[in-house]
Amino acid sequence: MGLLLDSYFGAFKTPKQRALAPFICKHQKVLITGGSNGLGLCLTKSFSKLLTVEKVIILDLEPPEDTILANEKVCFYFCDITQVEMLKQVQKRIVREHGDISILINNAGITNIKPLLSMDDAEITRILQVNFLGAYMVTQVFLDNLISFGDSTIINICSILGVISPANLTAYCAAKACLISFHKSLKLLMEHSETIHMPRKIKTLLLCPGKIRTKMFEDVSTPSTLFAPDLSPEELSEDIVCAVEGRNREQILSPYYANLVPLFQRLEWPYWRLLKKYSGMNEVTNLN
Ligand SMILES: NC(=O)c1ccc[n+]([C@@H]2O[C@H](COP(=O)([O-])OP(=O)(O)OC[C@H]3O[C@@H](n4cnc5c(N)ncnc54)[C@H](OP(=O)(O)O)[C@@H]3O)[C@@H](O)[C@H]2O)c1
Repeated sequence: MGLLLDSYFGAFKTPKQRALAPFICKHQKVLITGGSNGLGLCLTKSFSKLLTVEKVIILDLEPPEDTILANEKVCFYFCDITQVEMLKQVQKRIVREHGDISILINNAGITNIKPLLSMDDAEITRILQVNFLGAYMVTQVFLDNLISFGDSTIINICSILGVISPANLTAYCAAKACLISFHKSLKLLMEHSETIHMPRKIKTLLLCPGKIRTKMFEDVSTPSTLFAPDLSPEELSEDIVCAVEGRNREQILSPYYANLVPLFQRLEWPYWRLLKKYSGMNEVTNLN
């Protein structure tokens, strides 16, 4: 209930109002997986503008464009987050070169819009590995550093598709649903800091956005631009920055219809089925 109220009332605040809440010490070090493109790149730009942020560290398969790396606050490490040994090596290098990180953003993701029977084992495994297991492992590998920094934040970029699951996105939706569950469990663990001897709590932020204007779902057209407008990655990343600075929100469901999905889900037939039918969610992912 608390989470629901938070998302409702949080949705009515402007970014400026949210930013008025107390923040956060200086010398923040932000780690962003998949920070070279799309939403991750916008997060890289937004966090690197903050005076309180000392370093933005990108883990990705390709570096961002040179103009981004020209900013001395930004650095890039090649890392496939599905390769645990590589991840552990990169973690050691990062801690040696920059010290503990204070904000972890699990953002890297991939998708593949296909019916279940058309997907091969490798495609299914890769989607689950990048979207779910990768985020899980990154969190585990960096948790000690987040604990030692203190007052740190873990952000999981999930998706509203982890809650409502269209027909042709089985693996992606399943992976995002796993990540939402992982996030909820992690949040409880972080709130009971005494169990893992944390001097201060780690804040968590769950993001469940609808469609964002990036390359990931560029072939999918939204059925209703009125009720489900595409999100601007720039605005979303500014929202995330405000939530981290304010330390006053636990989740962001955006755009507004995403706040209503948990309510609809709790209703019996026919409401949920009507929502599925009239939202056109299955039709828009029927690309073949
Ligand atoms: N786009 C949407 O409509 C939407 C909606 C809801 C939630 N989301 C979520 O938002 C997050 C960002 O999505 P986006 O739209 O910004 O996607 P994007 O533009 O495709 O960016 C994703 C980034 O993750 C990187 N990546 C992929 N696999 C990786 C791996 N194994 N290790 C490290 N980095 C890896 C990608 O690298 P390459 O480009 O080299 O593959 C890319 O730089 C994702 O978690 C996505 O699921 C997106």
